[in-house]
Amino acid sequence: MPIPDRLNPTFSSASSAPIDLVEEARKRLIVALDVPDGPSAVELVDRLEDSCQWFKVGLELFVAAGPAVIEPLLKRGHSIFLDLKFHDIPNTVAGAVRSAASLGVQMMTVHAAGGPAMLSAAQQALVGLDDPPQLLAVSVLTSMDQSQLNGIGIARTPADQVELLARMGLTTGVNGFVCSPQEVATLRALTGPKGVLVIPGIRPAGAAVGDQKRIATPADALRQGASYLVVGRPITQASDPAEAAEAILREIAEAL
Ligand code: C5P
Repeated sequence: MPIPDRLNPTFSSASSAPIDLVEEARKRLIVALDVPDGPSAVELVDRLEDSCQWFKVGLELFVAAGPAVIEPLLKRGHSIFLDLKFHDIPNTVAGAVRSAASLGVQMMTVHAAGGPAMLSAAQQALVGLDDPPQLLAVSVLTSMDQSQLNGIGIARTPADQVELLARMGLTTGVNGFVCSPQEVATLRALTGPKGVLVIPGIRPAGAAVGDQKRIATPADALRQGASYLVVGRPITQASDPAEAAEAILREIAEAL
């Protein structure tokens, strides 16, 4: 399935027209709305919407506020990445993917570790839809390091496990992945320019690392081949979130 241009900023610089690099950067920055309720999300979007186009609705907000949190954001012209990381039997995931697509979101996630049958079912669930979201397979969470992987019985390095999952995903027709900045160059080489690579674990120099383990700066992640960067706490917990977002946008623009 071809990726709509609006979903793949990798292609948007192919035009010969002069490019506004900060506008290009805006197409690539996704702010994680990791807040406990709908009003907190609206308050954050109010502060950020002049700077940011994309917002990620994840488990914390979705479980608290439900699907109703999404429509107002879409009506305000924003693009939504619904990051619920589905991982269940293929039939259940296919149904959940259809339900998510009906909300009108632009990107959504399933866990690659659900296996090839689950990924195929997720991909198939989108076939024939008018304007389907980009499906992304989450490889290895950016909070997982070697000891965390060992803890669930995986002896491979995080990098090897990410590559294995991405190769498996590609065989099922999935061409979008979430991985850490440390694996993005490998996945870009695997997927080619049409792959959609969404990268969390982004920390501007000097920002608190928190629970993330495999991190990089925005500029480094882009230079390695990221399509989109997901940033949560460095923006949402800044004293001035809009200024923090603008600083990251300038850093992205310089790297483009
Ligand atoms: O606050 P921070 O920038 O660490 O937020 C990262 C966001 O990206 C969180 O919403 C987290 O759920 C998400 N994420 C991640 N690692 C993945 C997939 C998603 O950190 N592999």
